[in-house]
Amino acid sequence: MSRSVANFTPREIVGELDRYVVGQAKAKRAVAIALRNRWRRQQVPEDLREEIVPKNIIMIGPTGVGKTEIARRLSKLAQAPFVKVEASKFTEVGYVGRDVESIVRDLVEVAMALVRTEQLEEVQTRAEQHAETRLVELLSAPAGVAPAQPASIGPFVVSSKGTATQVAGSSREADEVRKQLRAGELEDELVELEVHESAALPMFSMLGGQGMEDMEQQLRDMLGNLPGFKGGKTEQRKMRVGEAREVLQQEEAQKLIDQDAVKREAVRRTEQSGIVFLDEIDKVAGGQRAQGGPDVSREGVQRDLLPIVEGSTVTTKYGQVKTDHILFIAAGAFHVSKVSDLIPELQGRFPIRVELESLGQEEFVRILTEPKNALTRQYAALMGAEDVKLEFTEGAIAAIAEYAEQANERAENIGARRLHTVMEALLDELSFNASERSDPRVVIDAAHVREVLAPIMADGDLARFIL
Ligand SMILES: Nc1ncnc2c1ncn2[C@@H]1O[C@H](COP(=O)(O)OP(=O)(O)OP(=O)(O)O)[C@@H](O)[C@H]1O
Ligand SMILES: [Mg+2]
Repeated sequence: MSRSVANFTPREIVGELDRYVVGQAKAKRAVAIALRNRWRRQQVPEDLREEIVPKNIIMIGPTGVGKTEIARRLSKLAQAPFVKVEASKFTEVGYVGRDVESIVRDLVEVAMALVRTEQLEEVQTRAEQHAETRLVELLSAPAGVAPAQPASIGPFVVSSKGTATQVAGSSREADEVRKQLRAGELEDELVELEVHESAALPMFSMLGGQGMEDMEQQLRDMLGNLPGFKGGKTEQRKMRVGEAREVLQQEEAQKLIDQDAVKREAVRRTEQSGIVFLDEIDKVAGGQRAQGGPDVSREGVQRDLLPIVEGSTVTTKYGQVKTDHILFIAAGAFHVSKVSDLIPELQGRFPIRVELESLGQEEFVRILTEPKNALTRQYAALMGAEDVKLEFTEGAIAAIAEYAEQANERAENIGARRLHTVMEALLDELSFNASERSDPRVVIDAAHVREVLAPIMADGDLARFIL
């Protein structure tokens, strides 16, 4: 079998993460091992496989050092159902309805989308063929005759050359239509199709509140199951062949897919390889108990999380989902609270702790230049849209990194996010003028960086405000 991401070794996974995240070797290593263990577990005989529970991870590190970034990149690599949720979301005062079980429901949704996409790819060729057949039917049916009826062959006029041409009002020969269709000659013709409009339930959208979203979805599904309400009302619409082909292909693909099998597979994937990234976990840790007494809602969230992390069964609209083997990766800055402020039961569910280091000038230089999506590349690409060729000298990069580190020291340490603010300040002029420039080449060097940033840095208040 070809090497797919699904069976990358830990070293290969780290290698992939390296392309986007600078440093933080320990954290990358831990998540790479965890990901590989998912695969290893799949190779184990079933009775033992059930016994092997995932080793959940907590990533600890100051703000802006790559915790969420690692999770984002991992999710792309994992080829597994993956959701990222902010634990703090569940604590907000008055936040009702969005219970922690919704994490699992979201995870199954992601799995559904994954499996659906796979299935759609699998049936694509057949769906295309079916769609073509239907298009041919539509196009060869004489005007006003419903396409479902077999196209009757009308009178033809045979020219001296022997080719048959259609007599107005009668049907065209299917084979001829098919040939023209394939040659792309009929793309602009109009056909009439029955299309399903998805049911809009404005009254629920209007109510808005969280939790309503689940209810709205449930209602939609319920209504969708009623005969005559399939996906809302249907409507006859005229459209070009090109557009009709898309619509028909989708319809035919849906018919070819076994929806129940999709649901079963989605639930299986969620249970066996689902990954939940619990961001901002420190925000639900106690830690300030001295001031205001125990924070009931935070501890409540932790207690709610427990059964899901430990393994329980959650009812979703695609079936019951056991959470025993879902991998949880938590992350938090933990500068106010400590991991030890989490309730002990929850701490115990996260046996692997990795710390991320705070970033300095050296890392900033690499972050600015190495990743495929590095900030300097992003700005250069944006300027490219204005036909301006933006370049940075090595000296400029070093200077930007230096100012970013200084700003982090003097004001708050916001990690690599500081690079965004520094770059914005640095390129403010150019960003405004780029559209009107006559000289298409801009080289930012160290001198220019100092010229722009030194005055801002010199004024402490200004630096705090702008950077
Ligand atoms: N080690 C790194 N390598 C490359 N880019 C990084 C790194 N750390 C941070 N960044 C960049 O900085 C930004 C913020 O990083 P990220 O979202 O990962 O922070 P975080 O550690 O989750 O912080 P917080 O605790 O505030 O959530 C991202 O845009 C990311 O691209
Ligand atoms: Mg984060």
